[in-house]
Amino acid sequence: MEATRIVLGVCGSIAAYKVAELARNLTLAGAQVDVVMTEAASRFVGAATFQALTGRPVRTSLWDLPEDGVVGHVSLGVHADLVVIAPATADAIARLAAGMADDLLTTTVLATSAPVMLAPAMNPAMWHHPATQANLATLRRRGVIVLEPAYGRMAEPVIGQGRLPEPAIIEAEARALLGRRRGALRGRRVVISAGGTHEPIDPVRFIGNRASGRMGFALAVAARDQGASVHLIAGATSEPPPSAVDVVRVATAVQMQQAVLAALDGADLLIMNAAVADYRPAQAAEAKLKKRRGAPLQLTLVENPDILGELAARRDLLKIGFAAETHDLLQHARDKLERKGLDAIVANDALASIGSADIALTVLDDRGALTFERMPKERAAAQLVAWTVARWPERLAPVERGVHERSR
Ligand SMILES: Cc1cc2nc3c(=O)[nH]c(=O)nc-3n(C[C@H](O)[C@H](O)[C@H](O)COP(=O)(O)O)c2cc1C
Repeated sequence: MEATRIVLGVCGSIAAYKVAELARNLTLAGAQVDVVMTEAASRFVGAATFQALTGRPVRTSLWDLPEDGVVGHVSLGVHADLVVIAPATADAIARLAAGMADDLLTTTVLATSAPVMLAPAMNPAMWHHPATQANLATLRRRGVIVLEPAYGRMAEPVIGQGRLPEPAIIEAEARALLGRRRGALRGRRVVISAGGTHEPIDPVRFIGNRASGRMGFALAVAARDQGASVHLIAGATSEPPPSAVDVVRVATAVQMQQAVLAALDGADLLIMNAAVADYRPAQAAEAKLKKRRGAPLQLTLVENPDILGELAARRDLLKIGFAAETHDLLQHARDKLERKGLDAIVANDALASIGSADIALTVLDDRGALTFERMPKERAAAQLVAWTVARWPERLAPVERGVHERSR
């Protein structure tokens, strides 16, 4: 988010207070956030809140004269990299659809060539009203990104669709949108597997492992933020699905193989982070196994498919594997790199990293080894994606796929 200029338009909705968190998080992420409040917004939240959180003057009127003498009413829009309007009221949506320029926010939107994203919030009847839906259709046709309001309980005692999307979702969508415009992986398709597998013993029991999915999900977010179209094949994990990422949930190694293969069509990069079981019970019992006192229970295990190994012939695809080991880490990782025909392998100490929030890793490829010190998995994932892009600049060079954004 460094060197990114975001105009955050705030309209007159009860949900306006939630956007303080968004302004703060975007600012902490390094963006320059200029808040523009409508007159109605000032009845719900104070400009001082946004000013303190963004460290920037908050603009509320067309008639504020900027100190630098530039033409004030359009300068915010002209210099913005992204305009986010949250909450977007029914009224503001109507004014934007009509192309009005009767306040600073609508004028900014008319003057900008940056992408515009709306996070609507309103009473469900207002949201579903044909007038609002027609206005949104007009805006979508013009390339405006409209986030779906959430379903739930409104401030007034009504349940329905109309709640402001969570600030974390708005931030994630903003990051993804910026990535698609200028990220290093824009136009590229990336497939990532994450989490553990559950191999059924009977309908209620399974053989599993301690993988949390956190690293794989962080990789998906990091690749998404660089503009990739990300297909995340998620095994057992309690991680919530990341925004703007295509997630397929699977349980077993066989299902994971099928889902990975199905996602690989047109893919440029595969990162296999999932902890896939090497073996599964030969037969899962149809009914719950009952305890038989005094008699040992024997399970016969059969080998699972070797997902990466079976892709060894795919030279068109960059393949990065993970090796989590408890001993002889680098030796096992180097062996796996060569045996499976990978482009790189990420070696990590299984006991220190599985289920933990942090990870230390060593990336091995045919040029040697690079170690990343222990750090939060989110940061390690961003660094690993940056390393991958720098390592194969031609194979992962950005692909321009057209100027217009599709509305999600
Ligand atoms: C208490 C209260 C809450 C409101 N909440 C919303 C809302 O969530 N969404 C909405 O579209 N309008 C809401 N309105 C109506 C808008 O504030 C009103 O349409 C206003 O003209 C919007 O101006 P703006 O779009 O310039 O911010 C609310 C009004 C009041 C009095």
